[in-house]
Amino acid sequence: MNRLIKTAALVPLLAATQALQAADTGKALVEINCTSCHSDAVYTRENRRITTLEGLKNQVKRCELSLGLKWFDDDVNAVTSYLNTNYYHFK
Ligand code: HEC
Repeated sequence: MNRLIKTAALVPLLAATQALQAADTGKALVEINCTSCHSDAVYTRENRRITTLEGLKNQVKRCELSLGLKWFDDDVNAVTSYLNTNYYHFK
């Protein structure tokens, strides 16, 4: 009984930790890989090209592929979500 309660209490904690890790991963990946050609100013420039969340994800993939990084979907998603949270703010 006691054990059951402990496990139940851990679940939301785990979910929060995973969300936090995804945010950290996105930030770290961008800082390590994505600053050689453009700074983060492209994400907020006046005539930025990206206008949808889908488009953002595609652009992340395009830039990632041109670097030959072979990211997993999780990495693409983490970076897309990091850029969206901090710069693009699409719904
Ligand atoms: C090899 C050079 C290069 C690297 C490295 C690079 N990019 Fe790019 N990126 C570009 C170019 C070129 C553009 C288009 C700029 C333009 O349209 O003027 C661009 C544009 C973008 C845009 C769209 C900006 C807008 O207009 O809204 C995003 C988002 C982006 N890059 C993400 C990334 C991410 C994430 C990484 C790291 C995986 C990355 N880039 C690394 C070359 C690069």
